[in-house]
Amino acid sequence: MENAPRLELRNVEKSFPGVKALSNVNFSVKKGTVHVLCGENGAGKSTLMKIINGIYQPDKGQIFMGGNEVKIHNPIEARKHGISMIFQELNYIPEITIEQSMFLGREPVNKFGAVDWKEIRKRTLELMKQEKLPYNPETKLKDLTVSDIQMLEILKAISYDSDVIIMDEPTSAITNREVEVLFGKIAELKAKGVSIIYISHKMEEIFRIADEITVLRDGSVVETHPASALDIDTVISLMVGRKITNVYPKEELPIGEKIFEVEDLTHEQVFRNVSFNVRAGEIIGFAGLMGAGRTEVARAVFGLDPFTTGKIRIKGKAVKTTSVQASIENGLVMLSEDRKRYGIIPVRSVKENVSLPNLNQFIKNGRLKAKKEFGTVKAICDRMRVKTPTLDTSVDSLSGGNQQKVVLAKWMLRDPDILIVDEPTRGIDVGAKYEIYKLMSELARDKKAIIMISSELPELLGMCDRIYVMAKGKITGELLKEDFTQENIMKLATRG
Ligand SMILES: Nc1ncnc2c1ncn2[C@@H]1O[C@H](COP(=O)(O)OP(=O)(O)OP(=O)(O)O)[C@@H](O)[C@H]1O
Ligand SMILES: [Mg+2]
Repeated sequence: MENAPRLELRNVEKSFPGVKALSNVNFSVKKGTVHVLCGENGAGKSTLMKIINGIYQPDKGQIFMGGNEVKIHNPIEARKHGISMIFQELNYIPEITIEQSMFLGREPVNKFGAVDWKEIRKRTLELMKQEKLPYNPETKLKDLTVSDIQMLEILKAISYDSDVIIMDEPTSAITNREVEVLFGKIAELKAKGVSIIYISHKMEEIFRIADEITVLRDGSVVETHPASALDIDTVISLMVGRKITNVYPKEELPIGEKIFEVEDLTHEQVFRNVSFNVRAGEIIGFAGLMGAGRTEVARAVFGLDPFTTGKIRIKGKAVKTTSVQASIENGLVMLSEDRKRYGIIPVRSVKENVSLPNLNQFIKNGRLKAKKEFGTVKAICDRMRVKTPTLDTSVDSLSGGNQQKVVLAKWMLRDPDILIVDEPTRGIDVGAKYEIYKLMSELARDKKAIIMISSELPELLGMCDRIYVMAKGKITGELLKEDFTQENIMKLATRG
């Protein structure tokens, strides 16, 4: 059994009502390697991982660890077999503290059999010190940022001393610096013989760490190869079953008058003297490191957060009070980065999620035009390649990336004059990214103004007419097309 794979799945199948999520999957992971799993949104990646972690039971098929068949009925059993998992969706309990979360379900007990809080405190503090994290163990999760919570989840999964660690899109919400920390940890784990299964839609990232790559499409394994035998274009065409040549379909368009202007916007401690403008037909970008203040500025102009001083003008008219309601009435909408918190309406259907904020388009003489509603929603969902059994399916049962697409579809239908998108392609597969870029281009052609906040430099460089760079709450520079390079952005992003 020495040469048996660390983990092997044979002929695994899994169906959900209306969907065959996995069919006849064979997948094996060698000791001390990073095995990357790629595939479009809804291809079955998370489902396969949840089977390994005991959250779902396969309808058919077997799991082997080191050559021995195992049955895994729940995550606790998975952990006993040496498997731990970092989940794609951050499902945290907002009211618990960092130390409670770190030891949830594995609390050490003292000699009286009670939870040993002193030990928990001690071990949490040790971990914080070792990882140079500035948190107080008593801080509640709800007071942390999404990236902090994700980083703690990563550290927690690593601290289990596992043989196999599953990482389902671990970098979708952490900063670039934290990505480097994670990659360093992955190298250490590999050296210790730990196997890692890694899911991501970020191609550059995949090729930095992968030893082997398996591509899933529509629930089946397309191919498995050593990473050295593949390149980005090949993986993309294996994933989507076609070639995507022009990744950034940006058009050169005549730029109109300024339709959105922000002057000297300041919110003490958060951002200072932020001024920028967007013209009709223009796509502008906001670059910067996480925490530079880009999201905070966007939230303030949209009316989600207050600001102390500053002016906002929409189509030349000064905006007197900012509120989400007023913004929407003025033709300004924003797609938030944390879609779990602000984006989807859980339990409701895909159709309702897309149409509810746009109902006025479907109501005539006080009656809902159900056919028109259905047709419009279906068209936009098809366009964005939302993978769902029906439009009446509850949005919660969609894969992570497909939930994101639903939120995007809803705002695209709104037909805004000014659209702010915060990390619009996070967690979205390459095929759908391309559709989102095309939609943005079309909006620009219709003389809309678009503000894109993104941490993916290639997409900013590929899609924008101008890029503002922020660092530490200030705009440190504005780049025109001829100065577009990753180096120029990074120089400005690390200034201040
Ligand atoms: N609990 C569930 N109930 C019903 N259908 C589900 C459930 N979980 C997943 N599915 C369906 O199974 C299919 C595979 O979903 P899965 O979450 O595994 O995709 P994925 O490859 O992880 O996609 P993404 O990149 O978007 O995260 C999808 O069609 C999804 O709608
Ligand atoms: Mg997934």
